[in-house]
Amino acid sequence: MYLKKLKLMNFRNYDTLDIELDQHINIFVGDNAQGKTNILESIYFLSRGKSFRNNNSDLIGWSHENSFAEGVFIKKNYDENIKISISKDDTIENTAVFINAKKIKARSDLYGKIMMVNFTPEDLSIIKDGPENRRKFIDNELLNIKPVHGRLLKDYARTLKQRNELLKNIWKDPSLKSTIEIWNEQLISYGKKIIVNRIIFLQKLNKISRKIHKILTDDQEELKLYYISNLIKNHEDMDNIEKIFKESLESSFDNDIKKGYTSIGPHLDDIKININDFDSKVFGSQGQQRTCALSLKLSQLELISEETGEVAIVLLDDVMSELDSSRQKRLIEFFRNSQVIITCTDTNFLNSIQTESKKIYTIYQGKIINNENN
Ligand SMILES: Nc1ncnc2c1ncn2[C@@H]1O[C@H](COP(=O)(O)OP(=O)(O)OP(=O)(O)O)[C@@H](O)[C@H]1O
Ligand SMILES: [Mg+2]
Repeated sequence: MYLKKLKLMNFRNYDTLDIELDQHINIFVGDNAQGKTNILESIYFLSRGKSFRNNNSDLIGWSHENSFAEGVFIKKNYDENIKISISKDDTIENTAVFINAKKIKARSDLYGKIMMVNFTPEDLSIIKDGPENRRKFIDNELLNIKPVHGRLLKDYARTLKQRNELLKNIWKDPSLKSTIEIWNEQLISYGKKIIVNRIIFLQKLNKISRKIHKILTDDQEELKLYYISNLIKNHEDMDNIEKIFKESLESSFDNDIKKGYTSIGPHLDDIKININDFDSKVFGSQGQQRTCALSLKLSQLELISEETGEVAIVLLDDVMSELDSSRQKRLIEFFRNSQVIITCTDTNFLNSIQTESKKIYTIYQGKIINNENN
């Protein structure tokens, strides 16, 4: 799939923008703080209904009350027009999503419509930082291929919050103890599905990322991913998740009351990312960690196309400058079938992609001041 047209109004530092994009390579070049990431943010926003940086109300241009982003996406069999408007009235923020001019009920109805993989320098945090980043990575990527996962996460988070509130109330009033049962049941029901989705996803990702990582490291490194669950220790446990979850909640109940939160469940799980059987988070060099993150993101592209038959749109925010020219070249080769939208502060890397058809836009203070085709 690809984004054919992008229109913005009062979006971040763009008063108006109306462009037609190239099917293959699009480059947004400009100095710092001119609005390059804002463009990628608007495109990502169209696929998820949410910014990857802040609250939606922060997207509205300063001194304006409302804003919209609109994109025409060309998919295999049909086009999809997505328009999202945001308005704010004092502190109340209102986001409305329209697919082909029809307003949708829930933001989750947007999941699975537009496939997109977003590469940023912060991807390194998937490898380097805490488990939350790795959970976010798989959950977010799962939305592309399994949109119902979004609903599950929301239901699970709501149940968890209510269960934690109850734990705190039980601490004050132990007679409430028996009411925990209903939250346990719901937590197990949603949590089990989340774990299964993640494990199946990771098995698929494992296969593809091992292959891609070998290509990126010239056969030097073997990448392996493991799902680390506080409930499932081996394969057989998979068939008994509900029973194990229930027993674990019961055995940690007294402790959880003391702490006031739920210490068991997929909200605490992690992924171990090994290179040649050592933990990349602990022992990987900066370059190895960066390559791991890149392998995971690239695998995502292949997985999306295997699972959905659609080629995802690729967003590359300031990623080129971190790679040497042979890596830049190899990276662009990975994207030969995708639409790629790149931001950069200079176009030195263009030599690596000379033969491709491309559009280059120069950005200055929220305006496109130059537009080259080739
Ligand atoms: N809601 C808003 N309204 C108007 N301007 C905004 C809003 N939010 C952010 N900006 C401005 O948008 C500008 C550009 O931001 P953006 O992140 O796109 O820059 P960039 O070109 O990617 O820069 P860099 O190369 O440093 O990453 C910033 O100067 C910021 O102050
Ligand atoms: Mg930027």
